[in-house]
Parts: sequence; C-alpha cells; structure tokens
Amino acid sequence: MNPSDCPQSSSGLSRRSFFRYAAGASALASLPILTEAHLALAARPHFADPNKGIHIDANENPLGPSEAARQAMIDIVPRGGRYLFPMEDELAQIFAKQEGLSPESVMPYAGSSEPLHYTVLAFTSKDKPLVVADPGYEAPMWAAQVSGAPVVKVPLADAKGAAAHDIKAMLAASSNPGVIYICNPNNPTGTCTPRKDIEYAVAHAPKDTIVLIDEAYIHLCDEPRSLDFVKEGKNVIVLRTFSKLYGMAGIRMGFAVGRPDLLAKIGTLGGMNSLPITAVAAAKASLLDADLVTTRQKMIGDVRTQTIAWLKSEGYATTPSESNCFMLDVRRPGKEVQAALAAKDMYVGRIWPAWPNSLRITVGTTDEMVAFRKSFTEVMSGSTAGLELPKLPGRLAERPFTHMS
Ligand SMILES: Cc1ncc(COP(=O)(O)O)c(C=O)c1O
Repeated sequence: MNPSDCPQSSSGLSRRSFFRYAAGASALASLPILTEAHLALAARPHFADPNKGIHIDANENPLGPSEAARQAMIDIVPRGGRYLFPMEDELAQIFAKQEGLSPESVMPYAGSSEPLHYTVLAFTSKDKPLVVADPGYEAPMWAAQVSGAPVVKVPLADAKGAAAHDIKAMLAASSNPGVIYICNPNNPTGTCTPRKDIEYAVAHAPKDTIVLIDEAYIHLCDEPRSLDFVKEGKNVIVLRTFSKLYGMAGIRMGFAVGRPDLLAKIGTLGGMNSLPITAVAAAKASLLDADLVTTRQKMIGDVRTQTIAWLKSEGYATTPSESNCFMLDVRRPGKEVQAALAAKDMYVGRIWPAWPNSLRITVGTTDEMVAFRKSFTEVMSGSTAGLELPKLPGRLAERPFTHMS
C-alpha cells in the first residue's frame, strides 16, 4: 500500500480532522461514509507507515483480486475512454441469475459501505432507533448520528462461547426500531448467528422495520445465506461486498439486495452514479470464477485455524470465528498490548469498549501470522506488554478517536 492510498492522505484530511468532522457532523446532511479502513486507521496507537510492518488490523484480504479479476481489469483498460455503463446491468444480472433473484432486486455500489450508510439514513430517525449487536461493526452507528436515531446496543449472546447475535433481546430492545442490523458472520468476532435465529428476526420484527443483514464475510463460511428473504419479498436488505473474500477492498464493488421499493428508497440518498468499469469487470470475473470462493475460503480458514490453535496452545482464548477475523482475549487491557505490538510494527485491530481485554486480529498470510506469533510471544512474555509508547511529538500526540459509548 502506498501512502497515497491511505485514507488520511488520499482524502486530504488528517486523521484528526477527519474524526472531528465526523463527530460533529450530525447536523449535516452528509457525513463521510466510514469504512473499515477509516475505523482501523483511527484506532491505531500511532501513525504507521503503511509500507512498513504487518497490518492485520482492517480485515483486508492480502491475496488481493483473483488472477481472473486482474486480467479482466487489464483487458478493459484500453476501453476506458468509453461510457460502458451497461456493464453494471450485466453484472447485476449475472449475480441475480446465480442467486435466483430478479435483477431489479440487485443494486451495484462501490463497496457495501455506501448502501449500509444509506439504509440506516433511510429507515432510522430520532423516533426509530437502530438496534445493533455489541461488539459489532461501528459504521451503522456512525450513520445513525446523521439520522439522529438512538442506537440500542445489545450484547452478543453467550459471549464466552458462540458469541452470536442475541436476536430475542435485539427484538425486545426497542418497540419501534427503524433498522435491526445483523452482521453475519459478525465483525469483529467472526462468529455466525444460526439461521433459525435470523428467520426469527425476520418473522418477528415490527411491520415497518428493516432487517439489514450484512453478509460482507459470508463467503468465508458455509452458513446459510439470507438472500431467500429478499426473494420472499420480506422487509430485508442484504449487503454483499467484493472487499473480503474477493480481495477487492481497494477496487470497490458491492451490492445491496432488496425489494425494488426498498432499493429505490435508499437510492434517493445517493450512490446512483456510474461505477468504474475496471471494478465492474473485476467483479464479473470474480463471480464467474467457479472455484474462487471454495479455494479462498479454505486458504483463509486454514491459516485462521492454525493461528487460533496456536493461541489456544499458549493459553489464550479466541472467539470461534468462521471468518477472516477473530477476537483474542489478552487478559489485560487490549490497548496496552495493541500499543506494544505496534511498537514492533505489528498492527493488530482495535478494541471494543464492551470487551476491553480483547483485540481483533485479522487473518493475514501464513508468513504474516508467523510473524504475529513471534511478536505476540515477545510482548506477552512481559518484556514490553503494558509499556507506554514514547510520547509522540506535536500534533501526532493527539488521539482523536474515542469509541462511542
Ligand atoms: C461488516 C462490514 N460491513 C461492510 C463493510 C464494508 O466494506 P466495503 O465498503 O469495502 O464493501 C465492512 C468492511 O470491512 C465490514 O466489516
């Protein structure tokens, strides 16, 4: 990754001003659409050269786009002087056909962050709360700042075990929710919520509530998918992205899948601009690559299993992840361990206030995880864990990001 790819420099906003802006933007019509990259960057204990060290903090896929996707992008570049926007329709049609959906229920976006943000904006308000699991992905909570909706956080059920969404508690948490957000598998725990519980949520949510099922990581596990709720015409929006298993986080492509009237409603808020044909071509090639999902699911799953088994052998508990990330209980303030690892140029994920002694670890390559084991052993052996980082000079010393309570 080049420094220019880094959110704080590419946007022209420093990390500090970015989050100041975000935090104060509730009165504005538009708030920056926060992605995992922004959240990971803001949670780093210090400014890190993205070209240096190991970054297992943003749930990225180090494998990058597949060979077929790379070739498709190369092949389409010479035609980049043309408006080839019907390609987007073709992409939606291919996905719809593969999944047995009507093409009208599939809307392509540049990643799934945009439709996630717009769904919260469209269906929540100060009288219609957003209900989320805790710990859970924070981006919808930031969007709720714009709609002015109260955020109701419901602890994951069986936090020391399955760490699934507590669907009954989520349904009971508000009498009039605008959106119930279910991330399956969940970010940050990597855990899945049983299909019967998701069915229960869809069947028992109030009539006007949208059940927003975020399947950013669904390709990494074999759990049942939720697109059938859309086919049945339920009040459900499913989000898919090419950023995770397909390795296209920087290329940007995703789908909102829902009833056409729901998609029209979120479409009024933005995101209806045409998409880069390179991203569309890469997404199409990825969808048509028959072995990609199973091959990568196994590759990432194997590294995850080995890493978790090693941690267990060292006496550390993790969530039972089926995804490319998991929470690791470090049995002391996670912030200290995160900072001590960062001092060794090993950048691990952030800490959620509900679980202050846990860190999110993204599954990297085998080599990256071997390096992680080494750094983690050194840090936890007591030589550096808990040490304060040296004071950074000037504005670098400012820590702009505090988690929402
Ligand atoms: C749960 C979840 N949803 C959505 C996204 C959005 O990703 P993108 O905008 O890259 O598709 C992410 C990114 O990490 C995520 O973790």
